[in-house]
Amino acid sequence: MRLHKLVMSVAAMAVVGSGLVADTSKMDVEAVFEKECQGCHGPNHEGGVGSDLRPAVIGKKNSYELASTILNGKAGTAMPEFKDKFTKSDADAMVDYLQHFKGKKIKQLTLETVKAGWKSLNDRMAFFKKYPQAADVKKNTDICFVTERDAERVAFVDGTTGKILSKHPAGFAVHVTVTNKRQPRYAYSISRSGLVTMFDLNTPGQQKIAECQVGSESRGLAVSPDGKYLMAGNYTPGGAILMDAMTLEPLKVYPTSSVIKPNGDIDSSRVAGIFDTPYGPYIAFALKDGGHVYIVDYSKPNYPIVGDIPNIGDILHDGFLNEGKEIGRYLFIASQGSDVVGVVDFKTKSLVTN
Ligand code: HEC
Repeated sequence: MRLHKLVMSVAAMAVVGSGLVADTSKMDVEAVFEKECQGCHGPNHEGGVGSDLRPAVIGKKNSYELASTILNGKAGTAMPEFKDKFTKSDADAMVDYLQHFKGKKIKQLTLETVKAGWKSLNDRMAFFKKYPQAADVKKNTDICFVTERDAERVAFVDGTTGKILSKHPAGFAVHVTVTNKRQPRYAYSISRSGLVTMFDLNTPGQQKIAECQVGSESRGLAVSPDGKYLMAGNYTPGGAILMDAMTLEPLKVYPTSSVIKPNGDIDSSRVAGIFDTPYGPYIAFALKDGGHVYIVDYSKPNYPIVGDIPNIGDILHDGFLNEGKEIGRYLFIASQGSDVVGVVDFKTKSLVTN
């Protein structure tokens, strides 16, 4: 009985105890380190202009002194003071993070997280019935769009009169916009901050149909020529995302957080270029850091990768398809890192030459 009472009072004290440190830090210390500190202390905390902050060096140092260095800086050295940006508990949280640092967490792209970022905004079918023709212009193909990168907006313009029809917020640094060639009333944008937005150009004011947060840093976007699928490419978390082009529902993710690079290292890769081809039911995407091109067959159940072309070169960024005979059979992809152009054949799913 007495023991029971003792346990109870310890528990009660613990509750009181945590109540006292009410101002626990809400700072995302990893993100702040990347923004404010890594320039001097190195991305892996190994030091540079600043000192080595890895646990082997600072793990046993006095945590109060370390926190005080962060708040007050260190006179006579390059270490600036951060007391305007950090509270005391932020500094403590940063020291705790630094003293127990086990390397950066690799963020993995998962279908669950992308699905959680998917939002339907308007009833597509209701618009479809109500606006069979473009409401603001003669034909929906007359509409041009302008990406206002710094204003974080997409603007739709009447291509014949130059009149601005509407403007919409669409995420930080809108990067690319594409149209659905099969159903030209639908247009899509992707922002660098990973927001994909779908618009219906036939509606008055070009209303949004849906949006989906596919990652925290993104670039490429392409629609399959049959108009059914949309693929987005992510820098972080690395990978590609296949979506239903009529709803933006995420269907499958292709994570690229551990791929074999041309030099044999296994590491994470960003995805930059996405390429749809009229040659077959394929969308290809290039692993920017991994030197591979993957080919996805969207006509098959579960949209498998049917081709993996490795060792093309370093830093694969942009590419284009052949014109003329067998249009779209070959993808020419430029490697910024090794001054080569790889030629990928969608028929044999192999590298023709580079
Ligand atoms: C402009 C460069 C610079 C920036 C930015 C910078 N530091 Fe420093 N930091 C230094 C230098 C240089 C030292 C070493 C001072 C010395 O010689 O004792 C240092 C020392 C420290 C120390 C003490 C290490 C020890 O062993 O006593 C800590 C902790 C620290 N920095 C954390 C941070 C954090 C956290 C940030 C970001 C919020 C940051 N620093 C940003 C340059 C920088």
